[in-house]
Amino acid sequence: MKGANQSPDDQVELTGEMLSDIEEIERLIDEMLTYGRLDTVSSPLTIEEVNINQLIENLVEKLQRTSDVPIGVQISGPVSCLCDGHLLERGIQNIIVNGLRYARTALDITVTLDELLTIIIDDDGPGISPDQRQQIFSPFTRLENSRNKLGGGFGLGLSIADKIISLARWRDYCGGKY
Ligand SMILES: Nc1ncnc2c1ncn2[C@@H]1O[C@H](COP(=O)(O)OP(=O)(O)O)[C@@H](O)[C@H]1O
Ligand SMILES: [Mg+2]
Repeated sequence: MKGANQSPDDQVELTGEMLSDIEEIERLIDEMLTYGRLDTVSSPLTIEEVNINQLIENLVEKLQRTSDVPIGVQISGPVSCLCDGHLLERGIQNIIVNGLRYARTALDITVTLDELLTIIIDDDGPGISPDQRQQIFSPFTRLENSRNKLGGGFGLGLSIADKIISLARWRDYCGGKY
């Protein structure tokens, strides 16, 4: 435990630790608020024509800066859809961030639009065993024994993504296309 008689070096270290603790608490609050808001019936969706090519390009540019794992993108032509772009981006980002954490050498994103808009985010990491696939969508569930084993969050990322993607109200806006 750090005592009162700290050297300047200890104080710098403590300040650094405190800052990263504060950042972690801020991230937790942000994720809990996002998760909670998605449950609120009154939370408004901002539905507009969203350019999916642009959305993916922006996300990849942002997230590639945080990882050495190369992100590949395949999109079958110009794709747009009526949806809440910010929410969709948040959901996709959560899945890509996970993929980058677990990928060994590559992460690939494939987007197709037929009857359905399909976005596949595929990493070449260990994957998730079929019997665990349901539980990872429950809030605060992480499969690692040690919470910090591979860095990461609080087990809310996929719960948020799941809620966003299953927002049934989108169907009303998109002519049943989701
Ligand atoms: N691409 C992936 N490969 C392997 N395991 C994954 C992947 N994505 C998620 N997981 C597992 O699912 C858990 C829940 O993910 P998530 O809800 O995003 O929480 P967090 O990222 O905070 O751990 C992760 O802790 C991990 O055990
Ligand atoms: Mg996550």
